[in-house]
Amino acid sequence: MNSRRQFIQKLGAGIAIPSLVSFISPNGFDTNWIDSSIKGEDFWTQVRAQFPLTKNRVYMNNGTFGPAPFPVQKAMVESLQEINTSGEYGITDPEREKLAAFLGVKTAEISLTHNTTGGINIMAWGVSLKSGDEVILTNHDHVGNALPWLNRAKLHGIVLKPFTPASNFEENLDLIKSLVTPKTKVIAIPHVTCTTGLVFPIKEISEFARSKGIITAIDGAHGAGIFDLNLKNLGCDFYAGCCHKWLLGPSGTAFLYVREDMLEKLQPFHVGGGSDLGWDLFSDPPILNGYAASAHRYDYGTQSTSLMKGVSAALDFHLEIGKGKIETRVRELNQYLFEGLLDLGSQIQLLNSEDPRSRISMVTFQPKNTTFQLLGNELMKSGFRIRQVPEGNVNGIRVSTHIYNSKEEIDLFLQELKVILD
Ligand SMILES: Cc1ncc(COP(=O)(O)O)c(C=O)c1O
Repeated sequence: MNSRRQFIQKLGAGIAIPSLVSFISPNGFDTNWIDSSIKGEDFWTQVRAQFPLTKNRVYMNNGTFGPAPFPVQKAMVESLQEINTSGEYGITDPEREKLAAFLGVKTAEISLTHNTTGGINIMAWGVSLKSGDEVILTNHDHVGNALPWLNRAKLHGIVLKPFTPASNFEENLDLIKSLVTPKTKVIAIPHVTCTTGLVFPIKEISEFARSKGIITAIDGAHGAGIFDLNLKNLGCDFYAGCCHKWLLGPSGTAFLYVREDMLEKLQPFHVGGGSDLGWDLFSDPPILNGYAASAHRYDYGTQSTSLMKGVSAALDFHLEIGKGKIETRVRELNQYLFEGLLDLGSQIQLLNSEDPRSRISMVTFQPKNTTFQLLGNELMKSGFRIRQVPEGNVNGIRVSTHIYNSKEEIDLFLQELKVILD
C-alpha cells in the first residue's frame, strides 16, 4: 500500500468531506463550543472540529492562507443574507474598534485595508523621502514588501539597502544597526520572513530606530493571530497586517496600524469618503478641509460589511481560545516539528535557528540529495500541502502549522518525508 493511502486511512478518510451545502458543523454555530475543562491534545481536537478543512490531506500552508473556521463562515453567510434581504448594507465601525482592541491600539490608529500589500503601499508612498534617502529591508522579502519600495526607488531615486538575514535575534539587531547611515530614513522589514519564518526582534529594532529618528514600517503579514500581539508594546511606527492568514479570517481583509503621533508623517495619497474633515466644491477655490484625525484617512468608500463580520467572528474565535494559549500552542507545534526535522539528520539542511525566539510558526529546510521542487511535488502528491520557497534563493520547503494541526499530522509528515528521502 502506498504511503498516501496509509496516511489517509490514519487520518480517517471515509469520514465525509463537507459538501457545499453542509459546510456548517453541527455545533459550529454554538458560541459556547469551547470546553476549557478539556486539557492537552483533546482540547486542540475540539478546536480542529471547528474547521471544515478536509481530512483528505494535511494542510501545512497557513503562511499563505489561513482556512476559516465554521463561526467565521457563519458570520459572513448570515451577514450576506441579512444585507441582501433588508437592503441595509451596514457599517464597519464596530469591527474596526474590535480589531484595534484585539491589537492593543486605539481605533483611531487602524485603517482597514484589503491585504498586507495594500498597507505596505500606503506606508511606502506616504513617508516623505527624497532621492538618496536610504531604506533598509531584507533580501528575503515577499514581493508584497519588495515591490512598493522598489517602485519608489525606481520613481524617486531612494536607495534600498537589502540585507541577508542572520539566524537569531541578537545577530539581526546588530546587523541592522550596522547598516544604518546618516541617510537611513526607514527600516521596512517583515516581522516574520515568508521564506524561513524568521522572527525579527521588532521591539528592540523599533526602540533603536526611534532613538535615531528612523521610521519603522513593518510588514506584518505574519503577526496577528500567532503572537499574543500588542502593537503598542511592539513600539513600531507603522505595521501592515492581514486577517486572512493567522487570524483565520476572510481573504480581502487587512489592516494598517499608524501610531497616532505619526499620522502627520504619513501622507495619504488615495482618499475618498471617510478620509476627510469636510470638503466643498462650491467654495472658490474648492476646498478640502483636511484629513480625518485618525487612520481612517487612509481608507475610504464602501467596505464589505460581511467580510468584516467574518473578521469579527475570527477575533472572537481567537479570544475564546485565548491569544496567549494560541501562541503557546503554535510554538509547541513548531518546536515539535523542528525537533522531528533535526532527527532526520544529514538528509536535509534546516534553515532555522535553534533559538526559539527566532521561530514561531514556520520551518524551512532544503533537501540535500534532490531539488526542492521535486521533493515539494512528492510531498504534495502524498497529501501534504506545503509551500515551495524560491524567494531569496532559499530553494527550500516551508512547513507552516497552526492551531488546527496536530502532532499526529506532524508525525505523518515526518514519516512521509523520510520515506521520500530514503
Ligand atoms: C511576509 C509577507 N509579506 C507580504 C505578503 C503579502 O500579503 P498579502 O497577500 O496580504 O498582500 C505575504 C504573503 O504571503 C508575506 O508572507
